[in-house]
Amino acid sequence: MGYTDKVDTRKTYDPTSTDAWRKLTDLSKTVYEKGILEHFTDNPFRTSQYSISLNGLHVDYSKHLVSDEILDALNSLAEKSPLAELRDAIFSGTPINESEGRRVLHTALRNPDFPDGAIASSIATQFNRMTTIANRIRVGDWKGYDGKRIHSVVNIGIGGSDLGPKMVCEALREFAQPDIDMHFISNVDGEPIRSLLKQLDPTTTIFVVASKTFTTQETMVNAQVAIDWVSEKTGITEPLSTPHFLAVTAATDTAIERGIPANQILQFWDWVGGRYSLWSVIGLTICICIGQENFRTLLHGAREMDDHFLNAPLGKNLPVQLALLGIWYNNFLDIQSTAVIPYCERLGFLPTFLQQLDMESNGKRVSSHGVPLTYDSTPVTWGQTGTNGQHAFFQLLHQGTRFVPIDFIGVANDQLSDGKQHRILLANMLAQAAALMSGEAADSPEQEYPGNRPSTMILLNKLTPHSLGMLLALYEHKVFCQGAIWNINSFDQWGVELGKRLTSKVLDDQDRSGLDPSTLDLMDRLGF
Ligand code: F6P
Repeated sequence: MGYTDKVDTRKTYDPTSTDAWRKLTDLSKTVYEKGILEHFTDNPFRTSQYSISLNGLHVDYSKHLVSDEILDALNSLAEKSPLAELRDAIFSGTPINESEGRRVLHTALRNPDFPDGAIASSIATQFNRMTTIANRIRVGDWKGYDGKRIHSVVNIGIGGSDLGPKMVCEALREFAQPDIDMHFISNVDGEPIRSLLKQLDPTTTIFVVASKTFTTQETMVNAQVAIDWVSEKTGITEPLSTPHFLAVTAATDTAIERGIPANQILQFWDWVGGRYSLWSVIGLTICICIGQENFRTLLHGAREMDDHFLNAPLGKNLPVQLALLGIWYNNFLDIQSTAVIPYCERLGFLPTFLQQLDMESNGKRVSSHGVPLTYDSTPVTWGQTGTNGQHAFFQLLHQGTRFVPIDFIGVANDQLSDGKQHRILLANMLAQAAALMSGEAADSPEQEYPGNRPSTMILLNKLTPHSLGMLLALYEHKVFCQGAIWNINSFDQWGVELGKRLTSKVLDDQDRSGLDPSTLDLMDRLGF
């Protein structure tokens, strides 16, 4: 069956009417009769059978509340869904973002052999422009208006135009250019940018205004603060025409209208969603930070995961298996949230990045054809690094009334750490996952650990551009698979629009119509 047939199928496809869904509902009724530990006793090969290794990335999902029968039913659910056809549609560029009438082509950004020549060539053009600019900044050839080399780069953007680059630059600090400081300004709160500007020299600073639409309020306001600051400090009346401002956008005309010269604008396209854009020229700051070769390696890592996703059988397909485990807990065991706990401080921004990826993609209440869902879509994603989280919220994870499936992420070898400390860090991660699963009986109920609490262990051999690329693509595809099975359009985000419109209304001095009494009262209190 081709994609077009499946599009029609999507109109009527409902995962709850599949045999697999019914079977999983039945299996969920008896799942707690056997603890996870007992499954290990029954099957001495469980660890290896429930693990997948892929070029430096190892994923162990044996500590889950699943049996072969449950996994078989979950895989059958995936088979009966439009997942495979939608996956092929993404990789070939067939439009699947129905509500916006767009293709979904972020994977083309990491595919040197993308078949559509026009798209491939415009990707290559922008990639070359980006690497040229980044190289010039890195070697000191991109000079400020008075001839000095650049030492500070400030990315001004929000959401996908901030979270990906910020998270990657932090994660790959080991590979960063030492004499260039990277800064990220996102919130419209005026404090961060003002505090930052006090530390910067306008003659050695560039601002990257990153916005797909080039209309996002926070970004435009912060960009204006930067423009005014450069103007005030240097006496230049049109700072945007100096080398101190670059724009990265899908709306090049708007950036030009705002006064940024065309040769200082890097372009991407409407077929790259904001939360999938770090692979595009939105990655300029990444490229400045870690250099062209490392950026390429990041893309190669993601590409390797793409190939795995495209070619591995469903039962051994990492994104598919992680997606199915999430669906098992979400739709059959009624969990409310999932946590991501990296045991690596440099991955500290990963949970926030994944929040946008997951919740903006699959936080939806209607199907891809606008029909209200009769089942739950994605749960809340949250997390922070271990061991810090252990001393904050792990109490709930061990003994709370709800259980929270966890992704533990560990890095086997870390050159930036010390051998002894790293061993302690990893020991904590292993111990927490083991304790959550095993539990412990006690004489007093307060001291009892119920156990049977599931987790996935994701191990990277090292934290490199390649392994990070693989990890991020793994999560992208996991989210995509869940959206396909839930029959959601994972690539729009209409839910953010109303709040934006009401912000304009609250800021409108002339017209307060349509605002509710509570909001009007609060506006008065705040001096609006
Ligand atoms: O409001 C949500 C959103 O549209 C995200 O999807 C996006 O990543 C972010 O805002 C920033 O948008 P832009 O890159 O257009 O400034």
